[in-house]
Amino acid sequence: MRILITGATGQLGTELQKLLEKKDVTVDAYGSKQLDITDKKAVQKYFAENHPDIVYHCAAYTAVDKAEKEAKKLDEMINVEGTQNVAEACKEYDATMYYISTDYVFSGDRIAGEYLPTDPTGPVNEYGRTKLLGEKIVEKTLDKYYIIRTSWVYAKSGSNFVYTMLRLAENHSEISVVSDQVGRPTWARTLAKFMIYLTDNNCPYGIYQCSDDGEASWYDFACEILKNKNVKVISIDTKDYPTPAQRPLRTVMKLSKDTGFDFPNWKKSLAEFMKEIK
Ligand SMILES: NC(=O)c1ccc[n+]([C@@H]2O[C@H](COP(=O)([O-])OP(=O)(O)OC[C@H]3O[C@@H](n4cnc5c(N)ncnc54)[C@H](OP(=O)(O)O)[C@@H]3O)[C@@H](O)[C@H]2O)c1
Repeated sequence: MRILITGATGQLGTELQKLLEKKDVTVDAYGSKQLDITDKKAVQKYFAENHPDIVYHCAAYTAVDKAEKEAKKLDEMINVEGTQNVAEACKEYDATMYYISTDYVFSGDRIAGEYLPTDPTGPVNEYGRTKLLGEKIVEKTLDKYYIIRTSWVYAKSGSNFVYTMLRLAENHSEISVVSDQVGRPTWARTLAKFMIYLTDNNCPYGIYQCSDDGEASWYDFACEILKNKNVKVISIDTKDYPTPAQRPLRTVMKLSKDTGFDFPNWKKSLAEFMKEIK
């Protein structure tokens, strides 16, 4: 079996590569330098020469705030046109596509409860808008696809909230973090395991939701990251921390537990992750 990982240099792509090393598969793990997904000809050429069976499409423009004022519309080029290039090639060469989407496809205006995969979407920012368009393209172009929505991803490689908190704790005695945005943190390892689980178990095609279990505000998440540090975490509201991109307030998604996958609690995943980066 041949697998293409797009965005292989990113947080999720790196975790997938690690897990796939133990399997009897051929993996083409490409960052943007090896395969620029916005280059339709390059994508076509790769597929014509390599005929992958599976594409773990992890490449994306993920800078949520920058996307709001992105003059060149790079987010649109990568998340929409790039996804279209990959989806069309998957169709032509009969590959199964895994498209990683986000909780930011939802408006987040619920006070309680979990979003179902079938709930109406309504992104409140540009990143969510382009990721949702990517979902639509995948659904329209392909029969053999998995759309997997996830949230608040962190991993050893890359920049993420965990590293930001640890870095701030080095030279601050107090850190203010918003407590009215609630979601689910996700160790990229959980997500990578889930993707491979879907493959190994021949799960039906469709939309899935994967994060670590339990829910947290960014404030809760920060408190857990910094619980052994000598720093005070202060709870603030979103209105007191303005950002270029509006953030949805509550994006807790119902996890795809009907697959039989065992979703670890987010605190357990975080503890394991902290041990690994020590
Ligand atoms: N991070 C989160 O909190 C979060 C939350 C929800 C959903 N997601 C989704 O999860 C997926 C993985 O996210 P992540 O955190 O692993 O992302 P990431 O660390 O930001 O990595 C993004 C990857 O995309 C690649 N990329 C960017 N432009 C490209 C292009 N034109 N052609 C090919 N590759 C390109 C980058 O390659 P180079 O570095 O080589 O340029 C990098 O490998 C994405 O679909 C993202 O939207 C992420």
